[in-house]
Amino acid sequence: MAISSFFDNLSLFFPAGERFFVAAVRAHRHSVSDPEVAEAVRVFCAQEGIHGREHARYNEQLRRHGYPAQEMERRVARLLRRVSRVTPRRWRLAATCALEHFTALMAHLLLSNPRLLEGAHPQMAALWRWHAAEENEHKAVAFDVYQSAGGGYLERTGVMIAATVIFWAKVLEHQLRLMHSSGTLWSWREHWSLIRFLLLEPGGMGQLVWLYLDYFRPGFHPWDLDNRELLEAWRREVQRTGLQPPAGA
Ligand SMILES: [Fe+2]
Ligand SMILES: [Fe+2]
Repeated sequence: MAISSFFDNLSLFFPAGERFFVAAVRAHRHSVSDPEVAEAVRVFCAQEGIHGREHARYNEQLRRHGYPAQEMERRVARLLRRVSRVTPRRWRLAATCALEHFTALMAHLLLSNPRLLEGAHPQMAALWRWHAAEENEHKAVAFDVYQSAGGGYLERTGVMIAATVIFWAKVLEHQLRLMHSSGTLWSWREHWSLIRFLLLEPGGMGQLVWLYLDYFRPGFHPWDLDNRELLEAWRREVQRTGLQPPAGA
């Protein structure tokens, strides 16, 4: 229960989060001169738009099951509106790079360890794998645009620190709210099963800490972690299982 609520937790960020990413990248596309990056920006915006739409559907299912999904989505949207009001435009792109680093690392984990989605409904598992594959595919787009826009080390890492604190505080808040509405907030067994799932069995969150810290290395680039083989493995799996990405993706 706590494990599925962790995936639900993340899903609640996506509709507003993806809109924020697209707006931040679009606002700087004029600074891109490389036609390959310009094309990647177009694909990025299309992919994130479809992710937002699919997760809005997912979240609607949560609402139907009695979770305060709509209210939680609104809170995320409000927070991002407030961030947009008080920060310079390029900081919003730096925040997008920071959050895309998180999605890329979680995607890396999901694609490299199929056991993380064992027991999930096949359609849900397919949705998460598809989203993970596309996050992996476009993980450097915001970063490349940020570099074209003249973004530098101190700004990039300073914004990453702020984004880390705000994002994980919000993840914790979401987790507690979801567990409260499912009546498992005071179940230590549920908390333990989530911690065990994330850190021990099948685990993997621990190894992400080192990959996360790599962002603070001067000269870092998202493709320094070359995991294109995971994308290929996902494509082969889609062909084998016939579980297609959502229509229009
Ligand atoms: Fe996405
Ligand atoms: Fe993304």
